[in-house]
Amino acid sequence: MKIDVLTLFPQMFENFLKESMVGIAIKQNALSVKLTDIRDFAFNKHHKVDDYPYGGGSGMVMKPEPLYEAITKIKGDRNIPVIYFTPQGKLLNQSTVNKFSQIDEMIIVCGHYKEIDQRIRDTLITDEFSIGDYVLSGGEIPAMVMIDAVARLQNDVLGDIDSALSDSHQDGFLGCPHYTRPPEFMGHKVPDILLSGNHKNIEKWREQKSLEITKKNRPDLLED
Ligand SMILES: C[S@@+](CC[C@H](N)C(=O)[O-])C[C@H]1O[C@@H](n2cnc3c(N)ncnc32)[C@H](O)[C@@H]1O
Repeated sequence: MKIDVLTLFPQMFENFLKESMVGIAIKQNALSVKLTDIRDFAFNKHHKVDDYPYGGGSGMVMKPEPLYEAITKIKGDRNIPVIYFTPQGKLLNQSTVNKFSQIDEMIIVCGHYKEIDQRIRDTLITDEFSIGDYVLSGGEIPAMVMIDAVARLQNDVLGDIDSALSDSHQDGFLGCPHYTRPPEFMGHKVPDILLSGNHKNIEKWREQKSLEITKKNRPDLLED
């Protein structure tokens, strides 16, 4: 999978791309991430990428020309998703991540300041996603969220893909509790069932716990 990221802050990605599952995916050539500095496409005197909003109000708006130049140069005539992360987008969920993890190429545009010029959204952006109902300073962290979420689903990146498939949200429920050695820690024992060796009952217990946790923390998931 090849992901092009357009950002005003490419340095933010440096360590992120070397570590953990994303680093492994890149080392294994299951993923390649190319960073493009949007400022390199600001062909004005001071490489200005933002300007005051028409109609007044606070905050600066990312100018359309650098974004247009950068996106069209990278995209060429390929018909690939151009994703913009915004609090106004559809909430990113596991089923969308699963779908995008199967795609060969995508472009992610990181916004900053008050907003990007709407005309870029109207003409070049194919998908808009939010990573939650709160506001960050820029689209870099949402881009990292997407990169990490799709990287771990690439072939052979996780030692055991079943691990990803049994995580929260893959089957619509939240995950269950997990324990490792020692069997007793600060007076708290591992539930007997997990030491029983009875895999059928362990599976039932895990499903039950998943359901309880989902009911408690995310009853909205059960409505679906
Ligand atoms: C300060 S925010 C702009 C918020 C925008 N004025 C609004 O009210 O929706 C700057 C940029 O951060 C990114 N961003 C912030 N919060 C986000 C979220 N929850 N999900 C996805 N992207 C987000 C977007 O790219 C956005 O353009």
